Amino acid sequence: MKVGILGSGDVAKALAGGFLRHGHQVMLGTRDAAKLKDFAAQHRRAQIGSFVDTAKFGELIVLAVKGTVALDALKAAGAPNIAGKPVMDATNPIADAPPANGVLRFFTDMNLSLMERLQSAFPDAHFVKAFNSVGNALMVNPQFNGGKPTMFICGNDDAAKRTVRGILDQFGWETADMGKAEAARAIEPLCMLWLIPGLLRNEWSHAFKLLRQE
Ligand SMILES: NC(=O)c1ccc[n+]([C@@H]2O[C@H](COP(=O)([O-])OP(=O)(O)OC[C@H]3O[C@@H](n4cnc5c(N)ncnc54)[C@H](OP(=O)(O)O)[C@@H]3O)[C@@H](O)[C@H]2O)c1
Repeated sequence: MKVGILGSGDVAKALAGGFLRHGHQVMLGTRDAAKLKDFAAQHRRAQIGSFVDTAKFGELIVLAVKGTVALDALKAAGAPNIAGKPVMDATNPIADAPPANGVLRFFTDMNLSLMERLQSAFPDAHFVKAFNSVGNALMVNPQFNGGKPTMFICGNDDAAKRTVRGILDQFGWETADMGKAEAARAIEPLCMLWLIPGLLRNEWSHAFKLLRQE
């Protein structure tokens, strides 16, 4: 698959490495290609472009920019260039204010998630929340004693969710589909929970798992 990753940060680079390892074609999009010079040198098959180039390139779009600028980055990518495509949304609505006792502050409230805002602003794109509730170091084929971790996803388009589920299968996750875009109200705050042990006790090597009684 051709994957266009909007972002140049740790998440963009971790996911890009995973996509390349699993045989996909990858372009990373940034306003400043110099930020990805070292990454490109280490990953010769990765292409680097603008947000527009990257959105045009991707059959699957990955959104991996700072939450406060997610709308701006998508506007820069261009609505027609993401229309009809799955957009795997790893962003979190983290406010610029500092955490309180290890608990992040959000700029959204519990009744309207960031992904719903993005879906409303770009109604022709098919957003799927994924990869927001784990640190970038554990995103690709993480190993845990308790078996495969669970990634909670949601989105309005079933075909887009099937695409993301396929990626999660390759990246060593089991998928828990929580339904439509509104479920992002519950999935986005999982990043707060995931970060608390890190911010309080410098513990970063965990992930969530949904247990079921058979
Ligand atoms: N870090 C993690 O482990 C982790 C885990 C799960 C989810 N997340 C979420 O994933 C997202 C990416 O996190 P990150 O840590 O990799 O990177 P980040 O530092 O949150 O974001 C970096 C990206 O934001 C873009 N950006 C900043 N200001 C911009 C603006 N005014 N207009 C357009 N783009 C702008 C940058 O674009 P340029 O390249 O053009 O500078 C860069 O690509 C965040 O929403 C974060 O909450 C992070």
